[in-house]
Amino acid sequence: MKIVILGAGGRLGASLMREYREKYDLAGFDHAQFDLANLDDVRGKLSAMNFDVLINAAAFTNVDACETERDRAFLINAEAPAVLAGICNKKDAKLIHFSTDYVFDGEKRAPYTEEDQANPISAYGESKLAGEKCVLAADNGHLVVRVSWVFGPDRPSFVDAMIKRAQQGEKIDAISDKFSTPTYTHDIADMLPHFFDRGVGGGILHFANSGKCSWQEYAQWALDCCCDAGLPLKGTTVGGLKLSEMTNWVARRPVYSVLSTAKYAELTGRASRAWRDAVADYITRFYSKK
Ligand SMILES: NC(=O)c1ccc[n+]([C@@H]2O[C@H](COP(=O)([O-])OP(=O)(O)OC[C@H]3O[C@@H](n4cnc5c(N)ncnc54)[C@H](OP(=O)(O)O)[C@@H]3O)[C@@H](O)[C@H]2O)c1
Repeated sequence: MKIVILGAGGRLGASLMREYREKYDLAGFDHAQFDLANLDDVRGKLSAMNFDVLINAAAFTNVDACETERDRAFLINAEAPAVLAGICNKKDAKLIHFSTDYVFDGEKRAPYTEEDQANPISAYGESKLAGEKCVLAADNGHLVVRVSWVFGPDRPSFVDAMIKRAQQGEKIDAISDKFSTPTYTHDIADMLPHFFDRGVGGGILHFANSGKCSWQEYAQWALDCCCDAGLPLKGTTVGGLKLSEMTNWVARRPVYSVLSTAKYAELTGRASRAWRDAVADYITRFYSKK
């Protein structure tokens, strides 16, 4: 099976590259090699390649910047995926496109299913929802995978920033009234091959580690795991912040965006691993050795 990954330099894309290198006939392109903002270039380069599965892990992911660069957000997060889907249709290849929990408004208080109405409250969420619609409109068994709070070793995320602050002895605070679920890139890489076949799982799929937490709980658990692993920290307690205190944020974010993984479990017969186990595994593997 020949697989091409776009966004190969990002947190998720780099992880998929590492984990699939030995297993598949794989090619990956980072931002410098392949610019989704240049649609003619995208058409030219991709049309010349052969592949069975195209994984799009590239996106304009800076949520605040999307508010002020709305046209660019829609170009990269919506128009480009539409072009990708069209090229995949011509090649009879499957497109696996990543999306986000930020397509929801966060008003619900139970995990969002794939059937729930998306209602984004930011330009990022709007552009990602538009991208989903373009991919699904191509109607060729393509898959849109919505994930939340992605973390992993290939690019620092929230959890790494919290650990760094603890190591440096800076004050550690995190939001206590915003809820979702972390998703480990390793676990995404592990589950995705279930869906490489054209006949399996077209449409929208939610994937995250299981459970629910606030950013404060997430950060506190990460520091607890570091302590258990014997990592020297200058601070070990995470204070709480209210979402309303985040006055420097430009974009609105959903208060609650837990994704239900019931459909994933039904399709694969597997449950996603608990977020605490995934974070503990990450810290054991990538921090205790440092
Ligand atoms: N991170 C999260 O918490 C999170 C949550 C929910 C959903 N997601 C989704 O998961 C997917 C992967 O995100 P991630 O966490 O891996 O984010 P990431 O680390 O920001 O990766 C995105 C990649 O896309 C690249 N990119 C940006 N503009 C591009 C362009 N015009 N052409 C080609 N590549 C471009 C970036 O390159 P540069 O950095 O060089 O610009 C980066 O390597 C995205 O679809 C995102 O929307 C992420």
